[in-house]
Amino acid sequence: MLAATGLAEEILALKQERKAILLAHHYQEPEIQELADWVGDSLELARKAREFQGDVIAFCGVWFMAETAKVLNPGRVVVVPDREASCSLVESCPVEPVRAYRRKHPDHVIVSYINTSVEVKAESDILCTSRNAVDVVNSIPPEKPVLFLPDSNLGSYVRKQTGRENLRIWQGTCIVHATFPARRVSAARLEHPEARIAAHPECPEAVLAMADFIGSTSAIINWCVKSEAREFIVMTESGVQHSLHKLAPDKRFYFVANEQCNCSECPYMKRNTLEKLRDCLLTLEPRVEISEDLMRRALVPLDRMLAIQ
Ligand code: 13P
Ligand code: SF4
Repeated sequence: MLAATGLAEEILALKQERKAILLAHHYQEPEIQELADWVGDSLELARKAREFQGDVIAFCGVWFMAETAKVLNPGRVVVVPDREASCSLVESCPVEPVRAYRRKHPDHVIVSYINTSVEVKAESDILCTSRNAVDVVNSIPPEKPVLFLPDSNLGSYVRKQTGRENLRIWQGTCIVHATFPARRVSAARLEHPEARIAAHPECPEAVLAMADFIGSTSAIINWCVKSEAREFIVMTESGVQHSLHKLAPDKRFYFVANEQCNCSECPYMKRNTLEKLRDCLLTLEPRVEISEDLMRRALVPLDRMLAIQ
């Protein structure tokens, strides 16, 4: 405990020295969230990155989120505690097949989830996050065919919500959310009959069908905090429990184990530690480096998304 306190003090001193901001996603370890200037979902963190005026962004999340921060801050240093903090969705969608699709279907609008590499973003017409995906697709003229990539569960959810038949869906998945089995959610519901169910749209359709609320990580937290219910089955990564317990200490939250790790943790997000955060502020490595051309091209679909409220 003492060692962790010392480390926290070191991080805060380095943060001041570097004129840095610490941005943390809800899936980070509690001790990282406690030190962060801002904890949020992927859309909120992109917006915070855009507002930042200092020198260094220490992005406690996964690499694609830090790439997004860099595209919005080309002149600033963006570091991530662990270079291997990736995402199964990014890995499911290499840029070459996307380019090939674009060549074959030049009239299709490519809507890319923010969980993609900067190279894929640069090939896209507009980006979206779990929070605004429905609004983004609704902003596209109905007669235009759309390719939604790479999350197949989010894509199916968006197709259902928008009623859009001309929406093709890439077949990528999140290893955390896509492996929550519906039968375990049913079992949790039998065990906690009073509980309401909140789910992230990366969950399978059968899980979403049982949910009382579907939304991004921050939207799930807000909904649980505001709800009159006292108990919740929360179908997302268990890092959200830190904010849930802080904001609603008298409510109860249950998490369901997935089939990937028999837990509800993202192995990529959990690569970041306090030690690695201290080291990245000290050495300014691993640092996000992207060519100017790529940043310029990726900014276009990112700005289009950010213009949608
Ligand atoms: P949010 O957009 O809800 O932050 O989700 C990001 C993510 O990676 C979910 O797995
Ligand atoms: Fe990617 Fe899933 Fe981890 Fe989110 S929870 S960062 S989508 S692997």
